[in-house]
Amino acid sequence: MSQIYIIHENDAWTAPLRNELESLGFPYVTWFLDHGQIEINDSPPNGVFYNRMSASSHTRGHRYAAEYTACVLAWLENHGRRVINPSRALHLEINKIAQYAALHAHGIRTPKTIAAVGRDEIVRAAGKFTGPFITKHNRGGKGLGVHLFHSVDALQKYVSSPGFEPPIDGITLVQAYIEAPQPYITRVEFVGGRFLYAVRVNTSEGFELCPADVCQVDEMSNGPTQPRFSIIEDFRHPIINRYERFLRANNIHIAGIEFVVGKNGELFTYDINTNTNYNSDAEKAVGISGMGAIARYLGDELAGLRDTGPNLNLSAILGR
Ligand SMILES: Nc1ncnc2c1ncn2[C@@H]1O[C@H](COP(=O)(O)OP(=O)(O)O)[C@@H](O)[C@H]1O
Ligand SMILES: [Mg+2]
Repeated sequence: MSQIYIIHENDAWTAPLRNELESLGFPYVTWFLDHGQIEINDSPPNGVFYNRMSASSHTRGHRYAAEYTACVLAWLENHGRRVINPSRALHLEINKIAQYAALHAHGIRTPKTIAAVGRDEIVRAAGKFTGPFITKHNRGGKGLGVHLFHSVDALQKYVSSPGFEPPIDGITLVQAYIEAPQPYITRVEFVGGRFLYAVRVNTSEGFELCPADVCQVDEMSNGPTQPRFSIIEDFRHPIINRYERFLRANNIHIAGIEFVVGKNGELFTYDINTNTNYNSDAEKAVGISGMGAIARYLGDELAGLRDTGPNLNLSAILGR
């Protein structure tokens, strides 16, 4: 029987999707891709494969999960399997410079950014900025290595201190800091390549902006504050069409794209999350469910599948 395969490396992040799939009665299985083996001469099982591999997987002890996922996706795609967020999406997920290059190809503006390898190069790159700048990891997620600097001296101290966080792929980005008149960024969610909703994220408490409910525990223990995530009802903006074209051209089906608007009203896009999570409180307030939309989309994809080959021994492939 064909089913939905959720490729991932974080059980907590799959829970909301599992609940939605179960309540809709769609057959699915989770495929935890940190270790395992695939024999590429074998035929993969039939089904819809949803890739939720995360750029920050190495921070949860899954150092090679993204690399292994690239192998698995190549195998699935070579056999013509239906993959949601296939290889191209994974490539962009783990490489911000590749994201920016792809955005530029669609006329989408990103902040001035220099990629630097080596601590001296990071400092030299910073010398090319006139205003405040931030560092971030090329393979990032959850605000990895994001720090704001107002001078090259301050950066120099940071990179030569024990507190310097070396990026997992060796590439640090130095990027113009876009000062927003109000402390918020906007994240625009897409499912099936189509705009779903935009969420405003308050940035006054820092750069780590994971929207998943499991990321909000610390915040709650600090007592009630203003909600950090709020869905903008009826969000309309010309950037939406551009994003949709960009997603189509890059074979990305599900994503959250982040932008910030600077003081002079210019919009800068700076992050594409192909493994996107949603904030349930923000969703409840307006009666919408991102994971519900994904579950329905995956169900439609499954219904559209024709059987294309023999099913293999699934337990061997899934490593259990
Ligand atoms: N160029 C920038 N100017 C201002 N704030 C930024 C900029 N880049 C990132 N940030 C802030 O840092 C957060 C994390 O950066 P981001 O590029 O999204 O990295 P990650 O992939 O780790 O989420 C953003 O959501 C935003 O609040
Ligand atoms: Mg981000």
